[in-house]
Amino acid sequence: MPGRNDEDNKPVAVTTSLFMHPASSPHAKTVFWGMLATRPDRRGEKIALLLGAQAIVHMWEKEGARGFMTGVRQDNASSAALCNRLGISDTDWTYSVCIDPEMLGRKNLTK
Ligand SMILES: CC(C)(COP(=O)(O)OP(=O)(O)OC[C@H]1O[C@@H](n2cnc3c(N)ncnc32)[C@H](O)[C@@H]1OP(=O)(O)O)[C@@H](O)C(=O)NCCC(=O)NCCS
Repeated sequence: MPGRNDEDNKPVAVTTSLFMHPASSPHAKTVFWGMLATRPDRRGEKIALLLGAQAIVHMWEKEGARGFMTGVRQDNASSAALCNRLGISDTDWTYSVCIDPEMLGRKNLTK
């Protein structure tokens, strides 16, 4: 999970990108990207914009990613705007994910 720290070495922002489909899938090179979060006192400085862009470039150039997808809650306008700025646009796709809460826990990491 790449991130950026400030001069006090405290985390400022984080993001995550991961391949989540098997090699045989037509989506094998599609990355689930995002989960961006910026510390409240540093928001509005384009930190998430830059970090999100760096993650896309890294995954494309170093890891062979050729598609990027994410999920944004309908009421999260700032996140939707951020994704759109980075070229990840809205679609009518419905995407279902099954998560084992015993394995991953129930805590929300970005809010
Ligand atoms: C969404 C979040 C990551 C943005 O972080 P940030 O570092 O403040 O964002 P940036 O300064 O890089 O903003 C980049 C762009 O995002 C959009 N954006 C960011 N905050 C916004 C807001 N409050 N309202 C509308 N658009 C916003 C804008 O398009 C902005 O570019 P612009 O100002 O040139 O139009 C931050 O608000 C956050 O941590 N929210 C809580 C966690 C969360 O919801 N994460 C997303 C999970 S899907």
